[in-house]
Amino acid sequence: MLTCKNLGKSFGLDNSTDSVNVLYDINLVINSNQTIALKGPSGSGKSTLLNLIAGLEKPSSGEICLSGININKLNINELANFRNENIGIIFQFFNLINDLTVLENISLPLLLRGVSKKKSDQRAMVLIENIGLVDRVNYKTNLLSGGESQRVAIARALITEPKIILADEPTGNLDTSNTVNVMKLLLDNCKINNTSLLMVTHDESLLSRFDKVLSLESGKII
Ligand SMILES: Nc1ncnc2c1ncn2[C@@H]1O[C@H](COP(=O)(O)OP(=O)(O)OP(=O)(O)O)[C@@H](O)[C@H]1O
Ligand SMILES: [Mg+2]
Repeated sequence: MLTCKNLGKSFGLDNSTDSVNVLYDINLVINSNQTIALKGPSGSGKSTLLNLIAGLEKPSSGEICLSGININKLNINELANFRNENIGIIFQFFNLINDLTVLENISLPLLLRGVSKKKSDQRAMVLIENIGLVDRVNYKTNLLSGGESQRVAIARALITEPKIILADEPTGNLDTSNTVNVMKLLLDNCKINNTSLLMVTHDESLLSRFDKVLSLESGKII
């Protein structure tokens, strides 16, 4: 379903011809419905790998194919549409739109797809119940706690029923009981919708819930 072939990433540094290598020769296959945990020390390249797969950064070498489409060959508009149709992203630092309410943040990806406001809001409300934020539905998201923001980010990724969810430490800001709830929400939704999950986590207690665990160290899968 998703394949990364000989993927490498280096960043050029300002005012210098030097560059730093962050990822080396990553080969990865993720099947439909497969859940994979990605672990590794801080700075090992986990967020960079997710950004490449999401098409938010371009690889320096290699290629990424999702459902037979080489995402690096898409232009910026094609990529935005492709992402909306196929990929759900849960960022390490939420990336919610703070001028919008909880309901508006979660329904936005469906509105962008051309789904009616009524239908988008209905679907968003089901997810808002699932994440336990019915009493915050009309709050602007800058008023939410870290854990609440994270739950909104998760609902926003789930609403389009994407082929794959890329999640960067989605439980990093949650207490134990919210971690359990959020993991159940994510994993149950992935199973129901046939969605694959690639999730960065430092939480060893979560690893057994995944079909597979990958370790990244100094830019290489070990
Ligand atoms: N735009 C950039 N320019 C230069 N170096 C970068 C850039 N983005 C990331 N890096 C470097 O790439 C390395 C990997 O960063 P990345 O954010 O992928 O790590 P990570 O594994 O997600 O770490 P953490 O667990 O702390 O989130 C880091 O050393 C970082 O400094
Ligand atoms: Mg990171």
